[in-house]
Amino acid sequence: MDWGIKNRLSRIIKDDGHTVMLAVDHGYFLGAVSKLEDPSRTIKPLLPYTDALMPTRGVLRNCVDASSDIPVVLRVSGGNSIIGEDLSNEEITVSMKDAVRLNVSAVAFSIYIGSKYEHQTIMNFARLVDEGMEYGMPVLAVTAVGKELEKRDARYLSLCCRIAAETGASFVKTYYCDDFEKVIKSCPVPVVIAGGPKLKTEFDALEIACEALKRGAAGVDMGRNIWQSEDPVAMIKTVRAIVHEGISFRKAQEMLNNLRSTHKKR
Ligand code: R5P
Repeated sequence: MDWGIKNRLSRIIKDDGHTVMLAVDHGYFLGAVSKLEDPSRTIKPLLPYTDALMPTRGVLRNCVDASSDIPVVLRVSGGNSIIGEDLSNEEITVSMKDAVRLNVSAVAFSIYIGSKYEHQTIMNFARLVDEGMEYGMPVLAVTAVGKELEKRDARYLSLCCRIAAETGASFVKTYYCDDFEKVIKSCPVPVVIAGGPKLKTEFDALEIACEALKRGAAGVDMGRNIWQSEDPVAMIKTVRAIVHEGISFRKAQEMLNNLRSTHKKR
């Protein structure tokens, strides 16, 4: 691996091989999603517990302090909206030059395997990987499912992750699923998991994080299950302990409860 790519990646995936990424890029197709209406307000208290932030360039330029040394994984795909015809119709929305100007540590692009625009997203992803090679920029492939959340099983996600890695992804973001170890085994690059839409309880999200880490995930790239939770700081601190300290689900439940009651007393 090229030194520049290695160096940038090492800012995101820490020495223990793990990372806590905070996803705040949802506005690029969802608009002002609940609890992310004012991105600065959402992001600021969570940054101290985040290994890498995943915003769009608009949120980065307008809502994140430029003196922050947080590594950024910049969302560079888009071109659709939740009310549009097809979520998979994405293209590259940010030039590699602008990503370098923003001093980011990686760029993130969604591929939509099995969708109408599969070919377009894979080919654009390949182009991005080529440009990334030129500039020493790692590329994160997001295995997107659009509105079809039910697609998330091991057979499908392992296909997506493998195609992403074969096309040149430095790391891949996917969903947790039953038999997740199959996804990990067939993917030669690190895999992080998204949280997906807010689950019924915080414990459900913690359980997914624990299981994913146990089965070989490099970490999480979570958004809604952190900042839409009742106590986002308590939630990210607990997720961090799962990712970097490998605490069990039982310990994670205890930790979240303790942190929440301490925060309430303040
Ligand atoms: C999709 O909306 C974005 O790419 C998010 O970055 C991704 O889905 C992870 O965020 P969440 O954990 O909210 O699903």
